[in-house]
Amino acid sequence: MTPSTNQVYPVIWHNDSVSLIDQTRLPNEYAIVEIHRSEDMARAIKTMIVRGAPAIGVAAAYGMYLGAREIQTCDRSQFFDSLEKVAQMLAATRPTAVNLFWAISRMKKTASRTLGSVEDIKKILLETAQAINAEDLQTCQAIGDNGLKVLPATPEKLTIHTHCNAGALATAGYGTALGVVRSAWREGRLERVFADETRPRLQGAKLTAWECVQEGIPVTVITDNMAAHCMKQGLIHAVVVGADRIAANGDTANKIGTYSLALVAKAHHIPFFVAAPLSTVDFELPDGSEIPIEERDASEIYQVGETILTPIGAEFYNPAFDVTPAELIRAIITEHGAFAPGELQKFKEKQMV
Ligand code: MRU
Repeated sequence: MTPSTNQVYPVIWHNDSVSLIDQTRLPNEYAIVEIHRSEDMARAIKTMIVRGAPAIGVAAAYGMYLGAREIQTCDRSQFFDSLEKVAQMLAATRPTAVNLFWAISRMKKTASRTLGSVEDIKKILLETAQAINAEDLQTCQAIGDNGLKVLPATPEKLTIHTHCNAGALATAGYGTALGVVRSAWREGRLERVFADETRPRLQGAKLTAWECVQEGIPVTVITDNMAAHCMKQGLIHAVVVGADRIAANGDTANKIGTYSLALVAKAHHIPFFVAAPLSTVDFELPDGSEIPIEERDASEIYQVGETILTPIGAEFYNPAFDVTPAELIRAIITEHGAFAPGELQKFKEKQMV
C-alpha cells in the first residue's frame, strides 16, 4: 500500500536499521529496503535507491552511524581511523550533491568533539543523524512557506514548472521545489504542476508525477524538449527547481537540463527560482566552474528496460548535472528566506557544520 505523500519519508530510522523507499522501483512498486550496514548504505546511494541532494545527506549521516556501530574497538584513536574509512567509502558514492559531504563532515566533527568512550561517541552519532533528518524536514517546510512570498502575485492560481524530483522523496520529506508547490497548493495558489520527464532517469515522470498524484495535485508531464513551446503558449507562470550544489556566487548545479530550462524561462520573461537548504551552498567554491559533475553510465541513455535505442557504433556522453549561472536565477529560496544569488554570502557563518 502506498502512503499519502504528506507522509512520504524516504529515509527512516526504524528497529535499529534504516528504512529506505526504493526510488528505482517507483511508480510501479512501492518497496522498502532495510539497511543494516554502512556498505549497503553506500551501495543504496550509488545505485540511487535513495537520491536527491538532501536525502542522500540524511542517508549518509545514518551510514556514518551504521559504520561507527560496526567498529569493534574501545580505543578512541583506532575508532577514528576506522570511522575515516567509512566516511571515505560514503563520500565516494556520488560527487555532485554537496549535502553528502556536508552531512559526513558534520558527523565527523561531532565524533571528534565528543569526550568520553567509543560507546558514548556512537550514541551521539545516532542522535546527530536523527537530528539531521528532523532538521531537514523542518527546513523543507520553511522553504515551502518562504517560496510563497516570492511567487508571482498574478494570476491567483499559478502553473509551476519543475525539473527532476525535488520533492519529499529527494529530502527528509515535503521537498524543496515541491515544498514550494505543496505550500502553494495548500494556500490555494496553485493551478497545476508541469513536470519535465527528466531524461535519462526520468525522475520527473516517475517520482514528481507520483508525489503529485498521491496528493491530488494536478500534474502534467511533458518531455524535456517541450518547455519552450509550453512557455511560448503562456502555460507557465514560474519555474521552481531544486539544487545539488550552489556556489558562493549563486551558480547552481542541478539535474541535467536545468540550465536549458533557465535559458528558455529567461527568453520568455518567466521567473526562475531555485529552492534549497543552506546546506546545499558550498561556500568553498567561489563560482560554479569547479562544481564536480557526475558522469553516469552510458546505458542510462541507450537502454530503456530491455530495449536498446541506438545503433551499435554510436558513442555517448552522460553528465548527470549542469550548472545554471546565477544571473538566470531570480531568487534562491532557503529556510531563512528568499534571496538574490548575490546575497547568499551573508549566510556563510550560519551554515551549521
Ligand atoms: O540524480 P538525482 O536524482 O539524485 O538528482 C536530483 C536532483 O538533481 C534534484 O533536483 C536535486 O537533488 C534537488 S533535491 C531536493
